Amino acid sequence: MQIPATLLPAFAESFGGRPRLFRAPGRVNLIGEHTDYTGGLVMPAAIDFSTWVAAGRREDRMIRAISEGFPGVLEFSLDQTPRRHGNWTDYVAGVALMLEAVGHRLRGANLLIHGEVPVGSGLSSSAAIEVATALALLRNSDLSMEPMQLALLCQRAENEFVGIKCGIMDQFISCLGRENHALMLDCRSLTYRAVRLPSEASLVICNTMVRHELASTEYNRRREDCEAAARITGPLRDLTMETFERRASNLSDPIRKCCQHVVSENARVLEAAASLEQGDVVAFGRYMDESHRSLRDDYRVSCRELDILTELAGRLPGVYGSRMTGGGFGGCTISLVESSHVEDFVNQVASGYAIETGLTPDVYVCRAQGGAREVSLLERAVI
Ligand code: GLA
Repeated sequence: MQIPATLLPAFAESFGGRPRLFRAPGRVNLIGEHTDYTGGLVMPAAIDFSTWVAAGRREDRMIRAISEGFPGVLEFSLDQTPRRHGNWTDYVAGVALMLEAVGHRLRGANLLIHGEVPVGSGLSSSAAIEVATALALLRNSDLSMEPMQLALLCQRAENEFVGIKCGIMDQFISCLGRENHALMLDCRSLTYRAVRLPSEASLVICNTMVRHELASTEYNRRREDCEAAARITGPLRDLTMETFERRASNLSDPIRKCCQHVVSENARVLEAAASLEQGDVVAFGRYMDESHRSLRDDYRVSCRELDILTELAGRLPGVYGSRMTGGGFGGCTISLVESSHVEDFVNQVASGYAIETGLTPDVYVCRAQGGAREVSLLERAVI
């Protein structure tokens, strides 16, 4: 975990002095997609891209924030309600507002933000900036919070201030991620267990390099559809496929299919986690493939580019499974690839995708990481 080279000089130039450093990772979801907001099961891992926040204390109650990657300056007093701007500053203002709203009295801070998580690619750059900022603001004020409470607070900032009705998965894994493990989270009880990732396989993320306009409207619509259906069928989380089919006869065809995805996906997460725990990577990969088909055909959140990437992956040797990850309508796929085949996989997928779409995908080979934390400046000496 390398401290970005520009961070300290840029902070000194903009604000003066030596900051404290905080980082929070993005995530990839291995299985359990579009299940979190109906209290279902998910299985994400934190990845080696983080958002970094360099923070310096101020004597007043002002927050002043700038970003290395994006224009704009956020400046507001913690004694007033910040305004929304429709850009990165909303994540910073949103978590500050929520921290104060739950009773934390914050000190003023100068913040410099450096994001490594590709934005708009479905790898949770939003959760990463929320969590890193919230952690920085707390520690800057000599305060702390339990990681799960921090995740819930950041989700609330996104729901209520930024205006995206996301579930808890992204903020949870950014706070609680564990090295070399995925976490299987029950989004209703918020209990979770760590599932060790197989040492013989690598997590390979392929970025379609597209983000379709539909993404946020369709996200909120799917959520509303699921909530409306659950008023008829009972909580989707409690249904087996059999009880669901008995209760779903009055649902319209598209809504019935959406719920069918959710009910079957919850079952797949349980099976998939058990397979990994038994060392059966092949079975785990099959559940990933099934999950993609269900998201494509029943939940209808895939797109041509995601389908091309998963189909290309499915034809290559050494691939256990491949699926879209995150909200969909563009963004990334995640493939589980036998480590000795990774180099070939990367080359073949990149050239196949370029032939079919004219686009060059970014491909990241990832290792599961720990969750958000303060990074000591001394760590520079050992990395
Ligand atoms: C986005 C949301 C998550 C989750 C996924 C889909 O990443 O932020 O809460 O709903 O989509 O699984």
